[in-house]
Amino acid sequence: MEKEIHPKNLVTLSEDELRTWSQARRPKIDANDLVNEKYQLAEELRHTADGKKFKIITYGCQMNEHDTETMAGLLMAMGYEETFVDTEADLILFNTCAVRENAENKVFGEIGRLKPLKHQNPELLLGLCGCMAQEKVVQEKVLKTYPWIDLVFGTHNIHRLPELVMQAIHSQDTILEVWDKSDAIYEHMPKSRKEGVRAWVNIQYGCNKFCTYCIVPYTRGRERSRTLESIVDEVKGLVEEGFQEVTVLGQNVNDYGIDIGSVDFADLLRAVGHVEGIKRVRFTTSNPWNFTDRLIAAIAETETVCEHIHLPVQSGSNHVLAKMNRGYTREFYLQLVNRIRRAIPNVALTTDIIVGFPEETEEDFLATLSLVREVEYESAYTFIYSPRAGTPAARLEDPVEMAVKKDRLQRLADVQNQISRRISDRYLHRTLDVLIEGVSKTNENILSGRTRSNKIVLVDGPRSWIGQEFPVEITNGNTFTLWGQRVEEKSRLAE
Ligand code: 5AD
Ligand code: SF4
Repeated sequence: MEKEIHPKNLVTLSEDELRTWSQARRPKIDANDLVNEKYQLAEELRHTADGKKFKIITYGCQMNEHDTETMAGLLMAMGYEETFVDTEADLILFNTCAVRENAENKVFGEIGRLKPLKHQNPELLLGLCGCMAQEKVVQEKVLKTYPWIDLVFGTHNIHRLPELVMQAIHSQDTILEVWDKSDAIYEHMPKSRKEGVRAWVNIQYGCNKFCTYCIVPYTRGRERSRTLESIVDEVKGLVEEGFQEVTVLGQNVNDYGIDIGSVDFADLLRAVGHVEGIKRVRFTTSNPWNFTDRLIAAIAETETVCEHIHLPVQSGSNHVLAKMNRGYTREFYLQLVNRIRRAIPNVALTTDIIVGFPEETEEDFLATLSLVREVEYESAYTFIYSPRAGTPAARLEDPVEMAVKKDRLQRLADVQNQISRRISDRYLHRTLDVLIEGVSKTNENILSGRTRSNKIVLVDGPRSWIGQEFPVEITNGNTFTLWGQRVEEKSRLAE
């Protein structure tokens, strides 16, 4: 399965570029070199920010959202309080995403928008971190064009935030600290978790897959797994704090433990799933690679592990999958879906798809549409391919016009929306366990929860239900959201 496409066969890389690509791939981290450090904030940094406020603006994936929780924890340990109002803040951080160009453009737009705040409050610190900060081109652009940014730090430097803030306070120049790799995992960093019901827990950092379009292996470094014991300890602590659900996070969770050697992702799911008191366990993101029968069995047999798998396919065309270096074929993916469905009959599948990869033909695109129809995903995140400097695919000739790509994205959305609607209809009149997470984003008087299959369900009820899991009869639904009534409540009203 793991047939590797060497980019030399796909694109003409110069000798230098080829060397960079090969070197970036090579240093898989040896378990012996991996250091687990216990984080501790230097005593002299405590209370240095008493009375001050920070705001973090987060872009991108769940990994970034969770990094924001860690950065908030570190800042609070210094004495900062959180604010959501720009003009109240003494420190504003942009935690950025580099996966697509439009995400980057948005950030630069925001940095421009906030410039006047620096005139109003010369003490205000502005910082840029996350995946964009790892890119050399971005570092250069910030130094040259956005000199009012006080601080730039990378994904490997998060634990250094308190020290870097202090340096930025005392410096006229932009402080830049971006390590391009890390062999260390920092345990026990303080975290300020946003929600009270669901928590996210890192199990692994980085990615070794090097899909040819993707910048993540360059911005997040090589795969490093936390130890099973430290993950389980963290989950136990979360249960004690009152959390009901955890989502274990990694760029490529199926590879969890490969670098450690003695455990794998199936072991981890079972261990986390058996932590006393945890109600639900989810995981993201899994890759069709290395989705073993052992893993499928662990999902099927561990009661707390929810029946939802996010399984990015990216394309339904073998030709495109090979160029993407995805390492599997359409047939392999469909067989995997069958293996999963046989073992977990009520599983909900969701996916990520890229349209308009260089030289994607109409025939390639139709293969993606037919795969989507065949698998019947509950929902799909769909994207137009965005060339990322430094990735092999960015060098590919791309004769396909943007208008064609946009049209494909729309056709794909139409097909997926029909499927999602059909699946929503299947939920009608069923009674399902719903965990209430909080109030609805659009109406504070309505509660919002989720089925185990990850469908959002809106329920009318008191706030005291937040954090509870109970059976709900689904009474109504549209493509993305379901409405329901708590079953006990329904029978009480009928009396
Ligand atoms: N262009 C478009 N989409 C991308 N993704 C990753 N890199 C790119 C890119 N260069 C998408 C993939 C991935 C998701 C997180 O983002 O679908 O699964
Ligand atoms: Fe990027 Fe995911 Fe591929 Fe890793 S597996 S290179 S994060 S798309």
